[in-house]
Amino acid sequence: MKKKKVVLAYSGGLDTSVAISWLKEKRNLEVVALLVDLGQTSDLGMVKKKALKIGAGRVYLAEAKEEFLRHYAYPTLKAGAIYEGKYFLATALGRPLIAKKLAETAEREKADFVAHGCTGKGNDQVRFEVSLMALNPKLKVIAPMREWPIKSREEAIAYARKHKIPIEQTKESPYSIDQNLWGTSIECGLLEEPGRMPPEDAYRLTQSLEKAPDKAETVELEFKKGVPLKLNKKQLSPVKLVSALNKIGGKHGVGRTDLVENRLVGIKSREIYEAPAAKILYTAHRALEELTLGRETFHFKEGLALKYAELIYCGYWVSPLKKAMDAFVEVTQKNVSGSVKLKLYKGNCEIVSRKSPFSLYKKSLATYEKGDIFDRTLAEGFIKLWGLPLKVQAENKK
Ligand code: ARG
Repeated sequence: MKKKKVVLAYSGGLDTSVAISWLKEKRNLEVVALLVDLGQTSDLGMVKKKALKIGAGRVYLAEAKEEFLRHYAYPTLKAGAIYEGKYFLATALGRPLIAKKLAETAEREKADFVAHGCTGKGNDQVRFEVSLMALNPKLKVIAPMREWPIKSREEAIAYARKHKIPIEQTKESPYSIDQNLWGTSIECGLLEEPGRMPPEDAYRLTQSLEKAPDKAETVELEFKKGVPLKLNKKQLSPVKLVSALNKIGGKHGVGRTDLVENRLVGIKSREIYEAPAAKILYTAHRALEELTLGRETFHFKEGLALKYAELIYCGYWVSPLKKAMDAFVEVTQKNVSGSVKLKLYKGNCEIVSRKSPFSLYKKSLATYEKGDIFDRTLAEGFIKLWGLPLKVQAENKK
């Protein structure tokens, strides 16, 4: 009888490597590995070979860096969404795109199942499966890490050793790292102690404040309708622009965060993040919005950003509400064009200057010096009416 087929989202890491061998051995399936390139630094050629060596029948490499930035990261930047005020959502944004590639590959391969290597404790399992449910409700999902008896990373490492699966992690450095162009998420190991400072060797992309250069560096970004187009006056593709900013920002220690976050599955977990490009782009984009958005739009959009971040974090990327929010955000970005200069220095990212042809800032209205055209005589009447409801309430109390 012909074996049934599963398409596994493969990263080359410990869990998905072990999953290949588990799916074959325990489920008797033919495994097709799908490697989605979102700009992780691993050598993808090597990762491909590794999948074949462990026993995948076929490996697909889906190049998705540009699609990831243009259609996942940039809309989130335009929305201004940051989870719990600190996390730029790099991992959370990658999952629905990997799910999309899984669904496409399963269709092409006429596979019976798709699989992922997420544990039963994290958010990523939810994001994969909820995205898949929304993209193709007929697909059946296998989550090996939820099914088998392996509980700790040590046990997974032991299983890998037994099955001759090459591993990168050692018992001394057992971080779990997820990386793409938008950022790096690091968990496990010593990071599980929120009372301890993250060890320096946990970081991948950014230098410590001590090692960051003593000299500041200025970058200039140009945006059109909320989308970053130029870096230092040079037009660059999203991949080139974000890579360049990761490099410059990383050198100056920009974009590190240490967060004890609320996971969807009910636990708090301590994780650290590196997102130099996202930090720089968010700072610049917001600086432009301060200049170009009206007060009501700006404030309303701040509320929306909280919900937008929550939806992404909780796996609702492919949802009607997210789509509707994107439509709203798009309208607000009509005038978010112009340029922003930022100074990077020892982990800081400071606004130097900003300019836009659509600026709503009028010096003649704001100035305390000569040339003031603001009509102060209107203020008295305005305040009387603005405060009127409170006055009436206060008088009623007597
Ligand atoms: N806590 C983050 C999130 O839920 C990062 C998850 C990182 N995943 C990993 N395999 N290291 O988005």
